[in-house]
This record gives sequence, structure tokens and C-alpha cells, in this order.
Amino acid sequence: MEHWHHHPIELKVIAAEDMQRAWDIAAQAFSHGERSEFNADAFNTPFDAYGVYDEDGLQAQVGVNRYKVFMGSGPIMEMAGVGGVSCLPAKRGRGYVGRCLVYALEQMQDSGQHISMLFPFSQAFYRKYGWEAGGPRRRYEVPSRILQVVKETSDVRLATDDDALAIQQCYARFAMKYRGMIERTEREWKSILDHGKKHFTYTYVYAPNGPVEGYLTYRKGSWESTHIREFISINNTAQRALLGLLHRLDMQVEKFAWHAPSDDALWWNTGHNDINTSIEPTCMVRVVDVPAALQLWRTNPAIRAGACIEVLDPHAPWNQGVWEVECDSGQVSVKRGHETPQLTLDIQALSQAVCGAASLTAIRSSRGMDVRDEAGFVALEQILTGPPMWMNDGF
Ligand SMILES: CC(C)(COP(=O)(O)OP(=O)(O)OC[C@H]1O[C@@H](n2cnc3c(N)ncnc32)[C@H](O)[C@@H]1OP(=O)(O)O)[C@@H](O)C(=O)NCCC(=O)NCCS
Repeated sequence: MEHWHHHPIELKVIAAEDMQRAWDIAAQAFSHGERSEFNADAFNTPFDAYGVYDEDGLQAQVGVNRYKVFMGSGPIMEMAGVGGVSCLPAKRGRGYVGRCLVYALEQMQDSGQHISMLFPFSQAFYRKYGWEAGGPRRRYEVPSRILQVVKETSDVRLATDDDALAIQQCYARFAMKYRGMIERTEREWKSILDHGKKHFTYTYVYAPNGPVEGYLTYRKGSWESTHIREFISINNTAQRALLGLLHRLDMQVEKFAWHAPSDDALWWNTGHNDINTSIEPTCMVRVVDVPAALQLWRTNPAIRAGACIEVLDPHAPWNQGVWEVECDSGQVSVKRGHETPQLTLDIQALSQAVCGAASLTAIRSSRGMDVRDEAGFVALEQILTGPPMWMNDGF
């Protein structure tokens, strides 16, 4: 369908007066025409909207939420959370959204965003543009009757409005042990912790010595299954204490379900055959700006290593080419390289390794990698080793 690529279209930021049309396109694409879900009030995060215009006006769009994410113990990274990707049905298959994604990527780079994440309808679709599968998450389904009350459960209490800050501090401590957790805005926190329009929100904290060491929060649910929006604990005692609280609900809720990172301790704390764990795909990840993202990444301070790598990224030519990557005392430095690269990897592989979705070794053994000098591979692997990926928000 090459001729469509010559079709005159314009790519630009969607102007305020076109936003209603943008919401209407999203309603058709995502909610079967239900109009109430898409409007300016529905979003808790600032965002940019990019549109494809042809002779009939706005036809397709890509939204970019401006998030900030924790990347282990290093500085916060600017993360472009892509959402609302949609095209009016009669104009699909002409490359409108593909071109808009590339345009959005250029805007992300210009506005200083370091990495990007998105929840795909199809992994294959976004892989073409450089995004790749992020780390998996666990979904637990746990019968409340198998859980046990421990003596620390008596220190679990219902949270009040005054606990909000301490809950956020607990979240931040936890988030530094992962790559990808969102530094939430006040509005996002309120949407999680405040009561809903129709249902109460129940949040329980374990805070025996002042700081919150663990919390869980849920709203709605049923006897068969009640989903816990977030269940986080920074130590095993907190997790066991809170599991005991869930046991106290066993006459009201048969099963609780929640999401957890891939290294979560539940299996150690409550080994039981009736815990059902599924491994689910999460979002896809992409490095937007290779040198900037690598330089923000904090390595193990004991590691001193250097690698000369070649990055393949045809849709983001600013990343393409040879880079010298070095680390010392936890700090990474990156500059253009002029020697023969020790290894060549595509942006999909590099993105997975930078975001902690998979180790370089795992990526190499599953998909192959063009390695000319093992020393370079080992060095890059060392530089990018760190906490796994995890995030607990949708967009
Ligand atoms: C998915 C959607 C955004 C695609 O828009 P579009 O403008 O038709 O896409 P494009 O024409 O730019 O297609 C780009 C590429 O993806 C491919 N593609 C299109 N639809 C696809 C699909 N359903 N699955 C996998 N690949 C697809 C195209 O073949 C094209 O590849 P090519 O360049 O190698 O030929 C559009 O169908 C849509 O609005 N769907 C409903 C909303 C939705 O699901 N959005 C995604 C949310 S994550």
C-alpha cells in the first residue's frame, strides 16, 4: 500500500480546539462509543497529544503522558507513557498511526524524555517502532481462609487521611528496589486512596514504629474475588501482618487477587498449594534517548567496566551508531565511539536490559546478539545489572 505513504498528511500537536474531536476518536477506538470515559477530567497526569491531519481534519492520534519513574536507587527518569493510540476506522491501514508514533518519538526526544512505556494491544505492532516487552508481573489469587493471623497482625490498622504521606513514603522506598515504578502525582494518589463515588476505599497500614512498612488498599469487590489495587511491603514482617488482616475477611471474601513483582516474597511467607500465581505480560518499554538514559542509570559502585557498543535504531537516528559506555563509582558516562564495536544490539534489546525487563544474557540466548568481543558483552551486562522491572499503574 505504498501509495498511501504519498498521501498528504500533516503531523502536529493537537490544538486545544481539536481536543473534543480527539476524545471522540478515542471513545470510538476504546469504549464502543461510550462518551463519558474520555474527557480532560479523566486524566491525572499532564499529557501531550499528537495528531494526524488529512483533508478531512484530525484522523488519528498518539497521546503521551508525562510520567516520572524510579529506576532503582538512581535519579528519577522522565518517562513518556504512550496511550490513546487510535485511528478512525475508515482511515486505518494507511500508515497514519505508524507515522504519528515516529513523530511522537521525535517530540519525546526534543522534550527531554528518557524512556517510554506503553500497554500494547499487539506486541508485534509496537516492536516495529522499537518498543519491546517489559518485565512480567505476577498475579496472585489467594483464598483468604489459607492465610494466617500472626501476632504482628494486631498492629495493622485502618488508614486515615493523615497516613497518606507515610504511605507515599513507603511506596517510594519500595519503588527504589525496582525499575519503572511511577512517581505518582497528588491527583493519582488521591484517585487510589480516596473513597470512590459509589464505594468506600479500604486502606490498611502496618506501621508499628511510625513509618508505614506496608499497606494494602482496595475498593469494591465481590465474594468470589476482590482485587487489591496495591499491596506493598518493604519487609516480610509487614507482608505477613497484612496477610493476617486479609484472613480476618474470610467470611466476606473468598479470594483476594493482586499484582506483585517477579521477586515478591509471598511464596516464602505463605507457601501453600492453593495460591494461584499467573505470570502476565505488562507494558512494553523503549529507551528514547540512549546516552541520557544510560548516564542517569546508577550501577553497583564496585563495578568498573567499559564497552564499545553499536545500537541499531532506524526510527530514532539520534541513538543509532557506536557508543563508548563506561562506568566507575556507580556513575555511567557515554560518548560517541570510533572503534569497531564489541557488540551490536537493536534498540529493543537495549531497552529491555536498561529497564530491567530481562538480562542481556537472557536476551542473547533467546534472540541472539551480534557479539565480536566477549569482554564488551560482559562489561555491558555488568553495567546494566540491577533491580527487576515493576510498575503498578495503567494508562
Ligand atoms: C491499531 C491502530 C492504532 C492502527 O492504526 P493504523 O493507522 O491503521 O496503523 P498503520 O496503518 O500505521 O499500521 C502501522 C503498521 O502496523 C501494522 N498493523 C496495523 N494493524 C495491526 C494490527 N491489528 N496488528 C498488528 N499490526 C498491525 C500495519 O500493517 C503497519 O505495518 P507496515 O508498516 O509494516 O505495513 C488502529 O487500528 C486503531 O485505532 N485500533 C483501535 C484502537 C487500538 O486498539 N489502539 C491501540 C491501543 S494500544
